[in-house]
Amino acid sequence: MTIADVSDKSIAELTSLSGRCAVVTGGAQGLGKAIARRFAEAGASVLIADLNDVLARETAAELSASCDGRVISTRLDVADTAAINAAAELAETQLGAIDIWVNNAGIFPFVPLLEMTDDTWDQVMDVNLRGVFAGSRAAARSMIANQRGGVIINVASLAGLAGISPGLGAYVASKHGVVGATRQMALELAPHGIRVLALAPGVIKTETNFSSAPAQAEATIPMQSSKLGRIGVPDDIGRVALFCASDMALFMTGSTLLVDAGMLA
Ligand code: NAI
Repeated sequence: MTIADVSDKSIAELTSLSGRCAVVTGGAQGLGKAIARRFAEAGASVLIADLNDVLARETAAELSASCDGRVISTRLDVADTAAINAAAELAETQLGAIDIWVNNAGIFPFVPLLEMTDDTWDQVMDVNLRGVFAGSRAAARSMIANQRGGVIINVASLAGLAGISPGLGAYVASKHGVVGATRQMALELAPHGIRVLALAPGVIKTETNFSSAPAQAEATIPMQSSKLGRIGVPDDIGRVALFCASDMALFMTGSTLLVDAGMLA
């Protein structure tokens, strides 16, 4: 499948997601919520699929009330492949053919390498890396069956490009895996008109990493070297995700976009 030449389209047409269906894992709060919000504002129908189904329902209701697109929710554990496949089916049944799938759900337990158990390591890999693979596979199967291409966006991290804070060994390994999987999936799925991109956010202030877990927040302080005068907010990632999902980025696949306020500069 060859991608279209959209040179004649207006900016309004290129940034619109009207008529498109998106799934955002871990979209109940944080970066995923900001991504879901910008997608819905751009006109997409969105399924928020999150482990926290109560919060996911609240978020879906909030976004539905304030945005153009329809937003629904379901409970999903991305470490459970059968549940991922069921979420893809639900999106198709309730919202229509899947055009955009965002693998955003992720966990970041702080455990020094010498104290890390196999179980903790496996849990991080199951959610952050196998969950991305299983989500992408479900999305790609659906997109190929519907023959209209699509976009898969993997939320990686600066931790996918460099070692970061002590205690994040499994996280860093999982996110490096996400960056590699993005490149491989891009080349395997390109013939089907499916673009695959990753985002590498720097430090973004969310409920989890700053309020409810002070010890974790403390551990992230060495990373807070934003060159642009403030720490990131979730919408800094939501806007870039919208760009990637839209036809503005139609000629991009396989890339990992640094969204880090120059931290790695
Ligand atoms: P968060 O903890 O605020 O939100 C994560 C959401 O994912 C929650 O709603 C949670 O219920 C859900 N979730 C957790 N485990 C899940 C599972 N197994 N299945 C489905 N949903 C699950 O996290 P935040 O900060 O919004 O992070 C989102 C993504 O962005 C993660 O992949 C994270 O690694 C990445 N990231 C975050 C950065 C930050 O500074 N906040 C920086 C770089 C990357």
